[in-house]
Amino acid sequence: PAKLRVGLIGFGCVGQGFHTILSQLPEAELVVARIAVKTPGKARPLPAEQFEFDAHALVQDPELDVLVEVIDDADEAFQLVSAALRLGRRVVTANKAMLARHLNTLLRLELDYGGTLLYEAAVAGSIPVLRTLDSYFGSEPLLALRGILNGSSNYVLTRMSEEGSDYATALAEAQRLGFAETDPALDMAAFDPRSKAVLLAAHAFGTLVHPERVLNLGIENITPADLEYAAAQGKKIKVIAEIRQAGPGSVSLAVLPRLVDAQSPLYAVEREMNGIELEAAYAGSQFLRGKGAGSFPTGSAVLADVRALQRGQRYEYSKLGADDRPRLAPNLETEV
Ligand code: HSE
Repeated sequence: PAKLRVGLIGFGCVGQGFHTILSQLPEAELVVARIAVKTPGKARPLPAEQFEFDAHALVQDPELDVLVEVIDDADEAFQLVSAALRLGRRVVTANKAMLARHLNTLLRLELDYGGTLLYEAAVAGSIPVLRTLDSYFGSEPLLALRGILNGSSNYVLTRMSEEGSDYATALAEAQRLGFAETDPALDMAAFDPRSKAVLLAAHAFGTLVHPERVLNLGIENITPADLEYAAAQGKKIKVIAEIRQAGPGSVSLAVLPRLVDAQSPLYAVEREMNGIELEAAYAGSQFLRGKGAGSFPTGSAVLADVRALQRGQRYEYSKLGADDRPRLAPNLETEV
């Protein structure tokens, strides 16, 4: 059978990870047919003639079967992904900030024009958490989720507490290793895990919450003395996203540094690892742990989504009719 033709938009850390993994799987039934990037003339690990500079041309190309959007800029990403969905296309994105802000609109476009959008890589990197939440869909209720959803801040906290690194050195190392956002303040001040928490709330509880309504506090003001204080009590400080059902159609969300004790599975989640504890009504507690950031782990989640599209998969909630789909909490009828 003909190989699935992928249009890749963005060739940064995630795009390169995805491309490299694919090139190491010679039998893969898919091929990257076109790559669009923003900046001409930049040094890249592939011949210059493989790159083009108008991402919208890929969106419009009917010969491409799937579009993979892995650019940094959330506004630009929204333009591209929404244009693609208006054409009924199949799209994979890893852009958590864009998704958290616009999921309401994107789900409506998916429904109206018959396209499909998958975004496993946007939440907790390599961990298949959205697929796991889908497996609870329509069966038993989930009660709460607790997670470490930002690899960079977790990396910095680990380096500071285990190795006595100072904040700036640990952060520079997270940037060098490709975990941090282009603007690392998004990681350190917990804006990045806040976006991911919004996506988890939509999948776990069917409620969309605008990210600006969610309290987020980061680690910029955590001192070595704070970490020593935690350790003296047998605890660690971790940035925890907590999402719980607060009533019908209502969820409570917050992303904050908290003291985690040694009995919690989150205690052992170190460096760029992410972890998510699911609390279900009958199954009880379950725990997922894996690499939450980095070129290959995130590229691998993108590839898993492309393959899922190839198999015709979509999220359970996007199979619902307009009235039953996740909706914005009632006081948030419009998007900001
Ligand atoms: N900057 C993010 C993190 C990348 O550190 O977790 C993965 O979303």
